Amino acid sequence: MAAERHGLELHSLVTEEGTLRITLDPVPLAEPGPGELLVRVEAAPVNPSDLGLLFGPADMATLRREGDALIADVPLDRLPAVAGRIGKPMAVGNEGAGTVVAAGPDLQHLIGRKVGMIGGSMYAQYRRVALADSLLLPEDAAAAEGASLFVNPLTALGFVETMRAEGHSAIVHTAAASNLGQMLVRICKADGVPLVNIVRSPAQVALLRDLGAEHVLDSSSPDFDAQLVEAIAATGATIAFDAIGGGTQGGRILAAMEAVAARSLKSYSRYGSDSFKQLYIYGMLDVGPTVIDRHFGFAWSMGGWLLFPFLRKAGAETVARMRARILAEFRTTFASTYTATIGLADLLDPEVALASQRKGTGEKYLVDPSR
Ligand SMILES: NC(=O)c1ccc[n+]([C@@H]2O[C@H](COP(=O)([O-])OP(=O)(O)OC[C@H]3O[C@@H](n4cnc5c(N)ncnc54)[C@H](OP(=O)(O)O)[C@@H]3O)[C@@H](O)[C@H]2O)c1
Repeated sequence: MAAERHGLELHSLVTEEGTLRITLDPVPLAEPGPGELLVRVEAAPVNPSDLGLLFGPADMATLRREGDALIADVPLDRLPAVAGRIGKPMAVGNEGAGTVVAAGPDLQHLIGRKVGMIGGSMYAQYRRVALADSLLLPEDAAAAEGASLFVNPLTALGFVETMRAEGHSAIVHTAAASNLGQMLVRICKADGVPLVNIVRSPAQVALLRDLGAEHVLDSSSPDFDAQLVEAIAATGATIAFDAIGGGTQGGRILAAMEAVAARSLKSYSRYGSDSFKQLYIYGMLDVGPTVIDRHFGFAWSMGGWLLFPFLRKAGAETVARMRARILAEFRTTFASTYTATIGLADLLDPEVALASQRKGTGEKYLVDPSR
């Protein structure tokens, strides 16, 4: 019976002495109740946000294996920022997919079916999940195809919803060769939304052009800022979503938007244009300070953008529409790529941990805890 089952689950613990300890521990599995499924997890991506919880404030240069645990030192001055998790083993893995092995009395017909899931604790052999937090996959789908159908797809769709809701008509996107960025390229192409993609290498420019992206700029190119102004002029973009966070990129986008707006000013104003510009920071690929050189007037705003508050604000009808589209296009618009599939225990390998921490294009790992 499911009530007697145990399964391994990955935990990340930060101690008050300044040690990060990642372990695989047996946890009891409760019988699924009404409206619940017990799923054997067969695929879960290692997303950038998972890495934040997995390794937290650790000094990655000190990563080492001690017995069954992956260990790293946490500099003591970084502990206050994670005070809320000290001494509490954290389960990791935002989303995943697998096969239903047990179900509440009302959901027995789903046993044997594959589902995508959201809600945390996916780096585990089994996950009990509410039906509402799952997506029933077609009979012929592989678990790997359902592993990443929540976080990035809903976020990419959320950007377009946010653009429309806030009265903008085109988007600037950074770190645009990411899995999420590639989804956004396909969405915007299908929906006729002009999109300016910012990447940081010629290889990434080629990747996005192959997907059919029209405006792709390489931030490492010497005339990047001038190209950015022209791409914004061509698209009319007044909203930007920035996954980098640290450094100057966000401020340079706002400056380029203002440079375009200033072209249609009838007379000079020392306060800048009235054209409202919005920058949303939604990632921390660069954890350094955000540097904003405010030479773009006063008609601008900068804020954070996070998926779950957005979903709450968007409401049930919008979320249902987004989920239906994700399911209909899971093999095309919302497909993700991975560098390799690894087992749960491989996450405790210092080499794998360091490689995943790079967050490079096409370098994401997929974990299959059923291995
Ligand atoms: N706020 C939210 O609710 C939310 C939801 C979903 C995702 N996200 C964020 O979305 C971003 C993309 O996620 P993903 O899963 O699609 O990522 P991914 O597939 O792992 O790709 C990461 C991309 O970021 C680039 N990158 C890494 N460090 C960079 C830096 N310092 N400056 C510029 N580019 C850098 C990489 O390019 P290189 O090859 O050049 O390194 C790569 O193209 C992440 O930041 C994630 O945290 C946020």
